[in-house]
Amino acid sequence: QSLQPFHTFSLPSKCRQFVQLTDKVQLHDLDFSEPFCLLGEGSNTVFLSDYQGTVIHIATQGVQVTERRDDYLLHVAAGENWHQLVAFTIEQDMAGLENLALIPGTVGAAPVQNIGAYGVELEKFIAYVEYFDIATGQFIRLNRQQCQFAYRDSIFKHALKNKAVITEVGLTIAKNWQAELSYGPLLQLVAPSAKQVFEHIIAIRNSKLPDPYKLANAGSFFKNPIISNQQLQSLLKDFANLPHYYVDECHHKIAAGWLIEQAGLKGYRIAGIEVHQQQALVLVNHGESCGNDLVAMVKYVQQHIWQKYQIALQHEVRLMATSDECHITVQGQ
Ligand code: EPU
Repeated sequence: QSLQPFHTFSLPSKCRQFVQLTDKVQLHDLDFSEPFCLLGEGSNTVFLSDYQGTVIHIATQGVQVTERRDDYLLHVAAGENWHQLVAFTIEQDMAGLENLALIPGTVGAAPVQNIGAYGVELEKFIAYVEYFDIATGQFIRLNRQQCQFAYRDSIFKHALKNKAVITEVGLTIAKNWQAELSYGPLLQLVAPSAKQVFEHIIAIRNSKLPDPYKLANAGSFFKNPIISNQQLQSLLKDFANLPHYYVDECHHKIAAGWLIEQAGLKGYRIAGIEVHQQQALVLVNHGESCGNDLVAMVKYVQQHIWQKYQIALQHEVRLMATSDECHITVQGQ
């Protein structure tokens, strides 16, 4: 089975076996002893080469809404498309998810990396996440706190990595809505409705981020680094315009896209892989490229950023090699 249509970065690759999961009861019959890879819409996973295992494509559907006194509770199957869910809530006057419009991918993948954009992170809405526990064959529910959310991070990337299949996500949407406009370009909106914020976010994303179904990409390729205040102060001496955001009293997050652009890498190309012209944090694939080209690009960017700023960029995208995920780090780190 070719995986090219199943991941938005669209490198040529195949897998040994491909299973479509349309009902969670199928999970009891799957063999998890061989290498396996859970896949939603493949918008944050890149297959670098042929995968010698089973790809399990999560395609379960279903949304149940319960109205309560102060909020709505949405119980959503993992295979549902995230943006369609956001659009549905906005149409139904359930305001809250609008800043997270147009993020590619499925609902089940969203908590894994705690998707976030324009001043909002998914964790704010999580009531619970349900998963199939591969070792025991049981379905387990975790509350928000148990999910250990952080910036682009959760328990599903650590203690539960390769141990859990997320089957449903519970979201709470409070009725006492207030627009979240802290992200600079949203400040211009005056008393907007949720629908106006939703439409504005879509316009911003369309102007900066390439549509993965027109130009292959996997969104932000690298994470925004979180650094100590001390390191920030020393960077600001040389780079006074470096965008930075408060995380806690000891740490700030800095804009990796800015670092990459200022290092002169916008438009840099290896085979068909390019640092995107509109947003340097995004790598795009024009085609005619293979996994080795992408690995060379990741190393090139990491090396340049390390040399110029002594910052070790981590890729945010999940990179799959022949039988497992791999992490590319700056040499010598
Ligand atoms: N910037 C540049 N040059 C660039 C890109 C960015 O100077 O080429 C500067 C911008 O001018 C701005 C700052 O860097 O001052 C931040 O840029 P932007 O607002 O575009 O967001 P980002 O930090 O690059 C993050 C998320 C995006 C999310 C946006 C908006 C990560 C890894 N990425 O990007 O998420 O949409 O904020 O909130 O945290 C994704 O994860 O796939 C993704 C697209």
